[in-house]
Amino acid sequence: MLKQYCQEKGKIVDHALAAFVPSENVYPPKIFEAMRYSLFAGGKRLRPILLMAAADSIGGKGSDYLNVACGLEMIHTYSLIHDDLPAMDDDDYRRGKLTSHKVFGEGMAILAGDGLLTAAFTVMLAQPGVQADVLIKVIGEISNAAGALGMIGGQVIDLSSEGEKIDIDTLSYMHQAKTGALFQAAVRAGAQLAGGAEWQIASLTEYAKQYGLAFQITDDILDVTGTQEKIGKPVGSDVKNHKATYVTLYSLGKAQDMANQAVTNALQALKQFGQEADVLRELVRALLTRDN
Ligand code: IPE
Ligand code: IPE
Ligand code: MG
Ligand code: MG
Ligand code: MG
Repeated sequence: MLKQYCQEKGKIVDHALAAFVPSENVYPPKIFEAMRYSLFAGGKRLRPILLMAAADSIGGKGSDYLNVACGLEMIHTYSLIHDDLPAMDDDDYRRGKLTSHKVFGEGMAILAGDGLLTAAFTVMLAQPGVQADVLIKVIGEISNAAGALGMIGGQVIDLSSEGEKIDIDTLSYMHQAKTGALFQAAVRAGAQLAGGAEWQIASLTEYAKQYGLAFQITDDILDVTGTQEKIGKPVGSDVKNHKATYVTLYSLGKAQDMANQAVTNALQALKQFGQEADVLRELVRALLTRDN
């Protein structure tokens, strides 16, 4: 059931993204070619799916918010292009294909990321059918989550902790920020756009926080136990870069325990929700058995 839900929503997102991002026929073609290359390389579309599932969980219609959902995917894709650059994690494969800088060169990869980040805001601002004050609040939150108070802040700790032994609080901040912040923004966006009550938004926020933590811990685990064929990116990148992760700082077993705990906490956060939140429950449970 979850697989079918994700496939269905993924197709809707792909279709919308194809319409929102200009094709290579627009001048200057190189930048749109590079932006679309990474966007359509085969991501799981989890942030748009979580936005939609959160809206659905409170009786809204997630697919009404495709502009905001696609904006999140564009921001996420930009973050991956930059994360893979030689100055950052220096990885050659992403989403099963050569990374942007390998295909287009470093300069163009930086610009493709910049292009996606800025275009995301143009796309989100054009979201129809939502009151302006609600949309402005949601986009403001996404902007904060993507910036130095969120994802960028987490990436800063990630880079500056290479080769260091950091404490659990710093590691947990890094994961919440570099990965959790955007998931949290996605879920909160879905809840707020669909007109959720305060208590629903608060519960979903806690769910997303725990989802993000479990997601990055399992990403760290897959960096050790996964296969490149499945994860679409090189295995062992964290060890190569002497990264601080749950696996490198603790152990595989301890990392698995922490992921289990985060999933339990996420499910607990949904305890007041009925079966409308079953997709959210399945999405977080699936993290414990994911192989990509
Ligand atoms: C990878 O995110 C980067 C992290 C935040 C760990 P995803 O695993 O969601 O990547 P795609 O979008 O499916 O490629
Ligand atoms: C990156 O974390 C999170 C981002 C904000 C891009 P990682 O460096 O662990 O992501 P992967 O493993 O390369 O996808
Ligand atoms: Mg990284
Ligand atoms: Mg990386
Ligand atoms: Mg990783």
